[in-house]
Amino acid sequence: MPAPRILLIIGGGIAAYKSIELVRLLRKSGHVVRCVLTRAGEQFVTPLTLAALSENKVYTSLFDLKDEVEMGHIQLSREADLVVVAPATADLMAKMAAGIADDLATTLLLATDKPVLAAPAMNVRMWLHPATQRNIATLRGDGVSVMEPDEGEMACGEYGPGRLPEPEAIFAAIKAALASAPSPLTGQPDFAPANHRPLHGRRILVTAGPTHEPIDPVRYIANRSSGKQGFAIAAAAAEAGAEVLLIAGPVALPTPAGVIRVDVETAVEMEREVAAGLPVDAAIMVAAVADWRAADTRAQKIKKDGSGEVPPLALAENPDILANVAKSDRRPPLLIGFAAETNDVVAHAEAKLARKGCDWIVANDVAADPMGGETNRVHIVSNAGVESWDRLPKPAVARKLMEKIADALETRAPIEAD
Ligand code: C5P
Repeated sequence: MPAPRILLIIGGGIAAYKSIELVRLLRKSGHVVRCVLTRAGEQFVTPLTLAALSENKVYTSLFDLKDEVEMGHIQLSREADLVVVAPATADLMAKMAAGIADDLATTLLLATDKPVLAAPAMNVRMWLHPATQRNIATLRGDGVSVMEPDEGEMACGEYGPGRLPEPEAIFAAIKAALASAPSPLTGQPDFAPANHRPLHGRRILVTAGPTHEPIDPVRYIANRSSGKQGFAIAAAAAEAGAEVLLIAGPVALPTPAGVIRVDVETAVEMEREVAAGLPVDAAIMVAAVADWRAADTRAQKIKKDGSGEVPPLALAENPDILANVAKSDRRPPLLIGFAAETNDVVAHAEAKLARKGCDWIVANDVAADPMGGETNRVHIVSNAGVESWDRLPKPAVARKLMEKIADALETRAPIEAD
């Protein structure tokens, strides 16, 4: 088998030093690597270092190509099996999204007909800026595979999402992209993570997190839901090409790239936003909605008066958002509920499926995988039976679920927005 060929475009940013390690990993495992440095990238790593490690000429400007009769920019962009942009800066991705070709890197990116994988790195505020999120949604819509950045302390001293994924993670994403890239022999199938967007053209609504039900201005009823599984599902749906509306209860999680997010506090607010978000092709109700709220919310803080008397707390039942959507005339063609159970997981889920009127219940045992953890072992319960999956990290559960949703929607025409 011929060695896989990687065209690595290195943008400007302090994280560019990690691309040196990426080149080393790629070369060690037999990949052919050609590096292109942007003008800003050159400020952080030298062409000499990259040339030594890649054992190939490093390209820095369009002028380099005009020098060489045998290597025009079209050829350079097309002789690779995969184009990797790491670090992908906010500026570089903005240019990619707009189709600007004003230097070698952006010209290659516009001219290529190969899958593109981008590993973003930037300051947290730049990452969270609506312009960047819009550009990422555009790029994903165009078939570019944009990795989620890591979260943590940044070189600029701030904390949050925006760090370049570790070289090992980019390396793994490259191998995954190559594994499903079109065959060089047939050019088929057109299936790669970079342009594998089975939910393209679909609208998906996701609820996530807990709800908070106020008792008075300082106290509320809550539960232990972290929102991690719901946010991972919203991220996976966007990665799969869907237009995603995420209705989130109170959680401290960043908005996944390319997702439209509406924050709510209570079940009643969540129900209103869900209704406003319909119609959709699929709704995935992951939120742990509080079953009850305080029957009357006090306008002022309830005082402890020292008498030893405990104030009564009357509860009222919250609307069952899932059951109400199931009954509504805007019921999505695919309606999915989640169920956190501590015992008899499947039996409870089967009963819930009938009671709620949804198509699938994704049930998980919160005694085995406590709420707030990083993994889930789920059972998909539907009228077709029960499918049990191994314990997986929450993002992997989300991606697997997207494949199943795409299969289920395959024969249905997309829902038109109002
Ligand atoms: O009844 P239970 O809370 O176990 O059902 C869980 C499923 O129902 C989840 O999909 C959850 O989002 C949804 N649900 C809802 N509204 C409620 C309670 C639960 O939509 N009031």
